[in-house]
Parts: sequence; C-alpha cells; structure tokens
Amino acid sequence: MDKAKLILDGQEYELPVTRGPEGEVGIDIGKLRKESRAITLDYGYANTGSCESSITFIDGENGILRYRGYPIEQVAEHADFVEVCYLLVNGELPNADELAAFKHELTYHSMIHEDMKKFFEGYLPTAHPMAILSSMIASLSTYYPHANERVALNIIRLLAKAPTLAAFSFKKAIGQPFIYPRNDLSYTGNFLNMMFAVPAEPYQLSPTLERALNLLLILHADHEQNCSTSTVRMVGSSDANLFASISAGVCALWGPLHGGANQRVMDMLKMIHDDGGDVDKYVEKAKNREFRLMGFGHRVYKNFDPRATILKKAADEVLEELGINDPLLEIAKRLEEVALRDEFFVSRNLYPNVDFYSGLIYSAMGIPTKMFTVMFALGRMPGWLAHWKENRGNPKTRINRPRQIYTGEGARDFKEIADR
Ligand code: ACO
Repeated sequence: MDKAKLILDGQEYELPVTRGPEGEVGIDIGKLRKESRAITLDYGYANTGSCESSITFIDGENGILRYRGYPIEQVAEHADFVEVCYLLVNGELPNADELAAFKHELTYHSMIHEDMKKFFEGYLPTAHPMAILSSMIASLSTYYPHANERVALNIIRLLAKAPTLAAFSFKKAIGQPFIYPRNDLSYTGNFLNMMFAVPAEPYQLSPTLERALNLLLILHADHEQNCSTSTVRMVGSSDANLFASISAGVCALWGPLHGGANQRVMDMLKMIHDDGGDVDKYVEKAKNREFRLMGFGHRVYKNFDPRATILKKAADEVLEELGINDPLLEIAKRLEEVALRDEFFVSRNLYPNVDFYSGLIYSAMGIPTKMFTVMFALGRMPGWLAHWKENRGNPKTRINRPRQIYTGEGARDFKEIADR
C-alpha cells in the first residue's frame, strides 16, 4: 500500500496515502495522534481534506469545475437549474419521467405553512434577508420535526420552499403583500413572479430574466468543501437535523469573505463610481491593505475562476438584452484590467471570482443589493443538500471535532485567589 513517512522526535511513522482518480493525493493522518500524540496544524484548513466526495471536482490551478463529472461550461450552457439540483442530490441526470416527477414535487411543496407568514410580521423592514432566511429555514424543523427520517422529502421541501421564503422576505422589506407560489411556472419563473408581481396587475415574465437567473443559480450550485458547505457537513455530523444544518450553512455564507462578497462588490463599485471612477486609486488602496478588492481572490482558484469567465460574458449579454447601460459594469471591467496587470495581484494569483460579476446581473434584473447573498443561497441549496446527504450516507463519517494547540496559561491555583 502507498505510504508517506513522517519523522518526529527521531521516531518514524508510516501514514497511508489515498489517491483520487484525478490525481489528488491525501495523506491519511487518522491514526497519527494515537500513535505519536502529535496533530497537524492548518489554519483555514487550506491543506486539510475533511472527507472523500463524489459530488464536485475542482482543479484550481487549471480553472476546472465539474458537477458529477460534467464540465461547468457545458452544464451552464445546456442545463436547467432543476436538472442540476437532481444531478447533485442524486448523482445522475434525471430521465424525462424522473425530471417531470421532480418538477412536480418541487411545485407541490413550494408553499409554506400559513402560520409561518406571521413570523415575518416580527421582523423589522430593515432586517437583513439572510437573517430571515436562516431563521425561517431553522423554523421549518418545527413543522417537520422528523427531518432526518424522511430525507428525500425534506430535501424536496427545502428546494421548494427556500425561494418562497426568500421572496417573502423581500416583499416584507418593501411592504408589499406576499405573492403565493404558482405551480404553472418554471422554478425560476415562479421565483421572479413571487418577487416582482403585485396583486393589482398582471406580471409579464421576461425570458431574459428567467434565463439569467437559471444561469446564476447553476453557477452557484456547488463548490465542494467551501466554508458554508463544510459548515453544513460539520453541523450535520453531530446528527443535527437537516433544516438546522442548512440554516447554519446560510449563516456561514452570509460572511463578506464568502457569499456576502457579492453584496460588497456592488457597494465597492458604487463607491468607486461616486468617487469619480478612478480605479487606479482603489487598486492602490487595496495594495496598501486599506481594503480588500471584493470579488477578487479565491482559496482554490489560482489562475481563473471558470464561473467568473462565464458571468463576465453573461453580464454583457444580459445588460444589452435588457437595454441597460450600467456605468458600474465599465468600472468593474476597468478594475479587472488594471488589477490583472498589477504585480501585487499577479504574484498572489488574485483573479475575479464568481461574485465579481454576479451582482451586476442581479442588479440589472431588479434584485436589490441586500438580496444578493440570498440569491447565492438559493443557488447553493442543492450543493448543501447533496453534501449533507453524502456525509450521512458515508459509514466513515464521525462527528467533526478538530483538535487544537493550547497556548494559554498553565495550571494555576484558583483557591489561592478566592482566599484573598
Ligand atoms: N484584495 C486584495 N488583496 C487580497 C485579496 C483581495 N481581494 N485577496 C487576497 N489578498 C491578498 C492577501 O492580503 C494576502 O496577501 P499577503 O500574502 O501579502 O499577506 C494574499 O492575497 C493571500 O490572501 P489570503 O487572505 O491568505 O487568501 P485566502 O485564500 O485565505 O482567502 C479569500 C481567500 C477569502 C477569497 C480572499 O481572497 C478575499 O478576502 N477575497 C475578497 C472577498 C471575496 O471576494 N470573497 C468571495 C470568495 S468566492 C466565494 O466565496 C463565493
């Protein structure tokens, strides 16, 4: 068997090596502490594999991303988001009957319990929709308490109800009545209708918007062991229920270094625009570490993010189709151009990531900046669900419980202080 050797304090330890079919190499340290009392230390887990997974493959050096083996470029061009959900969760693409049944299930379960509408009354109109989404998803476990016994059904429920919860949070924020889901519309069409229709007049669905949303959701659908997915796996590893695990994933995604970056990109582009559009000035500020260029850099992609390449092109097309001339798109392109020529960004392999252009498209679609990370969550939902399911189904899964190197005080006497 393949082995790696570690020498520690003069003692040699043999560590089994696991190799993936794409040439990835993992040194299995599962018995290291038991044999040597040593652990590994890896801030940010950049070198730590937490599991084996057959869902998504990323080759960050070469900008490759595949869902269940299918290249992202092909999936983005040919698939429907609902098919991608099925593919990620079940491992294979559906045949026509399976797809029809899956679509039916997703529409059938899209309503939320009528009582849940009352929850929205308690939130301030200014409440962040990510806070609402995570609370509402956790609240679903009060309606479906045996979540882990009926996993397939509850996966459907989450995929079906998340868009309803997201659209209701938007309606609440702008003070409009909730628009109920409609079973005659596509997954994306139904979401847009719930977001933008008003009872007083018919809402004309735009095929451009449906297509754009479909693309955005697909590109966000999974990204292997990112921060929010690892959170879902970690919470799930304690045998917490599916809704609680996904709610935790939403919270992890909210952070500006992860999914929250799409909101921050727009804020940054607006700031540069309002300050006269001098991108060089802001590149300099980023180099001086006064701020981070949001939407730039990635833990895994070190050459380019294939999702950003697709979205850059899509941003041009969607804005043109909608007849929108957004000066922020020009600023984004100039910023990318300047940064990609700059030694600071080149030497650190910092390229635009998926969040750099997504906000411009969402904005053109009429989706407010505050909702951007919620849109990301809707896209990432099938990925989270697929990983939660895979983790639970893997007999090797144990409760996730990292170790630490303790750096605090040595033992000291409390009684001595108490006696003073
Ligand atoms: N702007 C300026 N400098 C940056 C940026 C940035 N966006 N990102 C990284 N750097 C610099 C760091 O200062 C560091 O420089 P140093 O080595 O001289 O100290 C170097 O590049 C490496 O950065 P790390 O923070 O160590 O990289 P890490 O892999 O830990 O972080 C991350 C990756 C969080 C994505 C980071 O690049 C970042 O903060 N980007 C901006 C936020 C963002 O766009 N997040 C979305 C990521 S994609 C997603 O979650 C969907």
